Amino acid sequence: MPVAPHRFDVMVVGDFNPDIVLAGPDVRPEFDQHEKLVADGALVVGGSASITACACARLGLRTAVVGATGDDALGRFMRDRLNEQGVDTSLAPVLDGERTGFSVVLSEGADRAILTYPGTIDRLDAAHLGTDVLASARHVHVASYFLQPRLAALLPMVFRALNDRGTTVSVDPNWDPSGEWDMGLARLLDQVDVFLPNRAEAAALSGATGADGAAAALATGRRCVVAVKDGGNGASAAGPEGRASCPPFPVQTVDATGAGDAFDAGFLYGHLAGWPLEERLRFACAAGALSTRGLGATAAQASAAEVQALLAGQL
Ligand SMILES: Nc1ncnc2c1ncn2[C@@H]1O[C@H](COP(=O)(O)OP(=O)(O)OP(=O)(O)O)[C@@H](O)[C@H]1O
Ligand SMILES: [Mg+2]
Repeated sequence: MPVAPHRFDVMVVGDFNPDIVLAGPDVRPEFDQHEKLVADGALVVGGSASITACACARLGLRTAVVGATGDDALGRFMRDRLNEQGVDTSLAPVLDGERTGFSVVLSEGADRAILTYPGTIDRLDAAHLGTDVLASARHVHVASYFLQPRLAALLPMVFRALNDRGTTVSVDPNWDPSGEWDMGLARLLDQVDVFLPNRAEAAALSGATGADGAAAALATGRRCVVAVKDGGNGASAAGPEGRASCPPFPVQTVDATGAGDAFDAGFLYGHLAGWPLEERLRFACAAGALSTRGLGATAAQASAAEVQALLAGQL
C-alpha cells in the first residue's frame, strides 16, 4: 500500500502561550498597593513551542503546532498570530472552560524576571496526540519538557510509536522551575534523535560545565545528537557522528529572547535535510544569531536564504 505523504515537515508539541512583556529601566513591582508606570509593554507570542514553530515556518518548513489553549481571547490571539506566520493550528486543542496560560515578563534589558500562570500549558493529553495527529509529520519536536509533567508521562509511549514508524523526534527541555532536573528525562533520551538544551540546562542535567563537556556528557546513547546552545559564545554538539563546535556569528544584537528556539528550528532544518553534524550546527547558530536582531522572540526570525547569506559572509 502506498504510504501517504506527510502533511507537515515538523510538528511542534508543547507550550503555546502568549507573553505580556513590561520593559524599562525599572520594572520591579512594589507591594503595599503601589502603582508604577513602565516605559514599554506588549502582548506577544511566547512559549518555546510557539516560537519554535514560527521559526520553522519562517525557514520554509511545513509546520504545525500542537499545544493547548482555552476558548478565550489569549487563545485566539495565539492561533491568529501563528496562522499569520504560516503555522497550522488545526490540530491544537481548544479547551472549553479552561484559561490559556501566559507569562508576565519583566524586562530590564540585560536581565529579566518571568512569572507564569500555567493555565492550559500542561493540559495536553493522550487524546490530543493520536496516531492520526502524529502520523502527519516527518519530525516531532517537544518544547519545554519540564513545564508539562502530564505530557512528559506520555512521552515514552508516544516516542516509541514514533520511533517504530521512523518519525524522528527532538526535545528542548528549557528551564526546570522545580530545580529537580529529572522527570524521567535521562531515560527518555534513548528514544530521542536530537536534544537541544542551553548551557545552563545542560550543566544542571549532566553536572558538566562548559557547552562542549556537557554535550559530550549527555550524548552517551547510540542515537541521540546533543546540541548545547551557549548564547553569545555559539554552540557545541556531540553524538554518534562525533563532536562539533561553532563560534558565534557577529550580528547587531537587540534582544536574544527566543534565540534558542530559532537555533532549534535551524538545527531541525539541517536534520531534515540530512546534513552532517557540523553543517547542521553552523546553520542553527546562524539562525539563532539572526533572530537576535529585533525586539521580541519572533520579530527577526530568518528565512533559509538569509541564513545561507550569513553563512556565505554576504550579510
Ligand atoms: N548575542 C549573540 N550573538 C550571536 N549569536 C547568538 C547570540 N545570542 C544567541 N546566539 C545564538 O543563538 C543560539 C541560542 O541562543 P541561547 O544560547 O541564548 O539559547 P536559549 O538560552 O535556549 O534561549 P531561549 O530559551 O531564550 O530561546 C546560541 O547558541 C548562538 O548560536
Ligand atoms: Mg531555550
